[in-house]
Amino acid sequence: MGGEAKHLEIFPMMNQPQSNPDQEDNGKLIATAKAILHNNIQGKFTKPAPKLYPHQWNWDAGFIALGYARSDFRQACNELTALFRGQWANGMVPQIVFSVQNVGKYFPGYYFWETHGVPGKPRNARTSGISMPAVHGFILNRLLQLAPDARAHRPFFQRMFDRIVLLHQYFYNYRDPEREGLAFICHPWESGMDNLPSWEEVFTQIHFEASEVPPYERRDLDHVDAPYRPRKPSYDRFIYLVNRLRQQRYQEPEMWKDYPFQVQEPMFNAILGHSNEALIELGQWLGRDTGQMREWHVQTNKALNSKLWDDTKGIYLSYDRVHQRHIPIATAAGLLPLLCGAPNATQSARMVSLLQSPSFAGTPENPAWLCPSTALDEPGFDPCRYWRGPVWINMNWLMFHGLNRYGHTELAERMRTDSLELVRRFGFWEYYDPRKNLPSSQTPYGYGSNQFSWTAALTLDWLGA
Ligand code: DGY
Repeated sequence: MGGEAKHLEIFPMMNQPQSNPDQEDNGKLIATAKAILHNNIQGKFTKPAPKLYPHQWNWDAGFIALGYARSDFRQACNELTALFRGQWANGMVPQIVFSVQNVGKYFPGYYFWETHGVPGKPRNARTSGISMPAVHGFILNRLLQLAPDARAHRPFFQRMFDRIVLLHQYFYNYRDPEREGLAFICHPWESGMDNLPSWEEVFTQIHFEASEVPPYERRDLDHVDAPYRPRKPSYDRFIYLVNRLRQQRYQEPEMWKDYPFQVQEPMFNAILGHSNEALIELGQWLGRDTGQMREWHVQTNKALNSKLWDDTKGIYLSYDRVHQRHIPIATAAGLLPLLCGAPNATQSARMVSLLQSPSFAGTPENPAWLCPSTALDEPGFDPCRYWRGPVWINMNWLMFHGLNRYGHTELAERMRTDSLELVRRFGFWEYYDPRKNLPSSQTPYGYGSNQFSWTAALTLDWLGA
């Protein structure tokens, strides 16, 4: 494990459960979570992790804002304001807004993306050229609920509302060419779940020469050991796609004509749908016309069901629109349409039983922490590797809200307690091994970066701090 693992071991890793985690523990958790966020502040925004991710990431910024909402509302607003400084003229909000201070510390950096001088990119922000899940609408709505003085912050909410509507327009105009109500992602990094086995299925359909992958040097492996990060063939494909985009100078919609990676993914669209609902509420508060958002919301929920629901498996699947096929892999993302109200009662009951089945919850002999990112019985499952199986706190937080929405309060509570227990026992990691009974020789249980900002932020949100 790289350097980050060595910092701030206030909650030492241990193999046996701590008995009776109580209020005192919560006090410690809160103090550590706040310290992590504070240490990761980089000027106006908070980086996702001390070393591995030294710039501002898009959906991270949303979750991180929640971590400040109750204790430092101004910083919560700063996170979103800083991110949207990178918004392009067409509405796209980039996956990364680069910090000038950390040039050269991350790959692929600003110069590799070659967005400089691209028409529509803001001149005063250094950004990548792709986007990420549109969490901002529902994050903004939660900030409104938590604002110490909502009226005083009305100009902020107005400004952000307009920016977020522009972002949704971008997704529906440029990423939904058939006007189906489903936006496609053009790169695994846009899903936020970079290394799901689902993307391998798409990659098997994409053929290119080795010479089409520009030379590159990874920096992630300076900080995290290779078994926990994507393999080289996946990384080659990530870079191949970036190269395709930069060669086209990011000119949409023209560049989509023969572009090989276009996937309609359930979580991405569920998040967009849930943010549509939030925009409707925010728009009402601001006295705005919300007709367009209502249409988007209805259409996205309908399309999630008509196109991405798989009735055999009882879960939503991704659809590869270039090769016109569903990707038959069960992942946590396939359960997240619970968040935007798409499933009916029968569908939600089926997803809940899948979530409690050996596919996600394990067996009495080999129980799992909820919720593995990739189902335990998928051939691509790997308990340690990035998105191939480990538990992510942001996914659990989204699922917690989705389950509560459908009245599955006990299971929602398990999402919360499993998450807090993982943090309490092993620390504030980027992701965690889903296996409860690990050989006692195996440490750590947490992988990627330690002192991970959204793990800290969502812990604070759950503990109401
Ligand atoms: C990474 O470097 O793994 C990031 O997730 C890309 O956005």
